Amino acid sequence: MIRAGQPWLGVGLGYRQDLHDAIFARSGSIDCLEVISEQYLAAAPAQRERLRVLRERFPVVPHGIELSIGTAGPLDLQYLDDLARLVVAMDAPWCSDHLSFTRAGDLAIGQLTPLVRTREHATAVAVKAAQVQRHVGVPFLLENITYYLDFPAELSEAEFITEVVEQADCGLLLDLTNVFVNSVNHHFDPVEFVAAIPLERVVQLHLAGGQWSGDTLVDTHSAPVPEQVWQLLDHVADRLSSLRCVILERDQEFPDEFDELLADLTRARQTFDLVRGG
Ligand SMILES: [Fe+2]
Repeated sequence: MIRAGQPWLGVGLGYRQDLHDAIFARSGSIDCLEVISEQYLAAAPAQRERLRVLRERFPVVPHGIELSIGTAGPLDLQYLDDLARLVVAMDAPWCSDHLSFTRAGDLAIGQLTPLVRTREHATAVAVKAAQVQRHVGVPFLLENITYYLDFPAELSEAEFITEVVEQADCGLLLDLTNVFVNSVNHHFDPVEFVAAIPLERVVQLHLAGGQWSGDTLVDTHSAPVPEQVWQLLDHVADRLSSLRCVILERDQEFPDEFDELLADLTRARQTFDLVRGG
């Protein structure tokens, strides 16, 4: 799953072009970056050059949004070839995508959509996750998503995640904000949730902040990390034996003061300095 000796990359940011200048102006406060894989798969010269500039200064990990591992039928082999090429070009230590689907047949849904949680479907997804991992030649991590509608299912979300990653022998990208957002909207205990998933498979964490829309908390990636997510981080931090990287996600409402984002990085770094004895 994760290679022994894989270094700790540290605490960094999801790269967004709007943040480029601020990131380089404060690069000493950022350990690593995560880029959206699909923005670099086609490898147009401008993107290749941007990736070169980023990699010259930071360790960079790729994070996909369009694999659509839950879509019925075979995976897109052209996409896997492109992803494998990107992994080699970036010398990426792992790659990740979401435990969701974004396509039904040829229809693009336009958002990360939760899967039907049956044992049969968990096995089908696990087979594909193992295929991705073999194809790209580095550990593959699946991320837990937010969902706003839920239906009774054979497996709980935690059971479904566990079945998939253990059958596939792949890693987890644990988005703690997604756990918190789902726990609020679907009324479950986030501490019980994290106790029920294989934390030893978590290679990377995501942290972010959301916003209320009526009675629903929405994972907008537009606000500082909320206190409840920090508490959840404190709760799990010393049980993440495979953790190599923490990424703060911010997609909109970029603050005028970049220090607001850096404060969240500092707090996460302090947490892991304590755990790692730094
Ligand atoms: Fe995330």
